Amino acid sequence: MPTSTAAASGSFKIGGDLIVNRLGYGAMRITGPGIWGEPKDRGEALRTLRRLPELGVNFIDTADSYGPFVSEDLIAEALAPYDGLVVATKAGLTRQGPNAWLPLGRPEYLQQCVLMSLRRLKREQIDLWQLHRIDPKVPRDEQFDVIAQMLDKKLIRHAGLSQVTVEEIEAARKVFPVATVQNRYNLVDRSSEDVLDYCQAEGIGFIPWFPLAAGELARPGTAFDAIVRKTGATPSQVALAWVLKRSPVILPIPGTSQVAHLEDNVRAAEIALSDEDFQALDDQARRAA
Ligand SMILES: NC(=O)c1ccc[n+]([C@@H]2O[C@H](COP(=O)([O-])OP(=O)(O)OC[C@H]3O[C@@H](n4cnc5c(N)ncnc54)[C@H](OP(=O)(O)O)[C@@H]3O)[C@@H](O)[C@H]2O)c1
Repeated sequence: MPTSTAAASGSFKIGGDLIVNRLGYGAMRITGPGIWGEPKDRGEALRTLRRLPELGVNFIDTADSYGPFVSEDLIAEALAPYDGLVVATKAGLTRQGPNAWLPLGRPEYLQQCVLMSLRRLKREQIDLWQLHRIDPKVPRDEQFDVIAQMLDKKLIRHAGLSQVTVEEIEAARKVFPVATVQNRYNLVDRSSEDVLDYCQAEGIGFIPWFPLAAGELARPGTAFDAIVRKTGATPSQVALAWVLKRSPVILPIPGTSQVAHLEDNVRAAEIALSDEDFQALDDQARRAA
């Protein structure tokens, strides 16, 4: 059987000019437990990263806080000088230990974060830099202004937001062009449906995080289970195929630390759900939510 490739998921132009295959990769899982420290199997993490270009995955999402720094460091070790890969990173969350995350949006800190991500990733410009969270303790326009400055200085090529409302995107767009929005979204978590509709209407890339949570729906006897069996796919693949079909602006970034799981997930790019199956999954997920 020929190797599956993420190119089968179609492409999207981030910010109108940076083309990626829609099925990407989330690099949060190549760290220790609680997204803290080194991964248990560093060799497998590097092999997983090096497998990405071979599978046509050319959109990688990370953040300075994953590890912290471990994910960006491993990406650079495995993939610099990148050869056409698009690496998106984020900043604006600080770490107080495993599973602890607190926002910090002071402009001088965000600027330092960008400069340090450039050094760690061994880049002269970051393809896509995302504000991980808007810090409620800092006026949001101060956070947006420093992003506009980093775009002007060409330290970052495109900028995005994470875990935001439509109102917040509109406020940010008064200050800088918002290329992407990264919110939690999957078959069973549809709380950002309005944000997705807004992004689709405006041509903004929508990056759903935690896209595989739908695996929980694979119970015997449900519509979901029946479709999984009918397609011959795994629950994870069906969950990814569903978000890919949901909107052409969706760029899923399933996370894994294992080559075998990466290969599984990329196969989702080739699953074409019928309209009927798409709807049945939607109905089932809404009932389960
Ligand atoms: N913006 C934000 O605030 C935010 C928050 C969280 C995450 N993110 C981003 O979104 C990405 C995806 O989110 P996520 O990693 O939390 O969740 P996810 O992609 O829904 O699920 C990842 C989990 O599923 C497992 N997995 C992956 N592929 C599998 C497969 N084929 N079969 C069985 N298990 C599989 C992984 O374990 P193994 O490692 O064992 O495969 C991992 O524990 C992250 O990597 C990160 O880049 C962003």
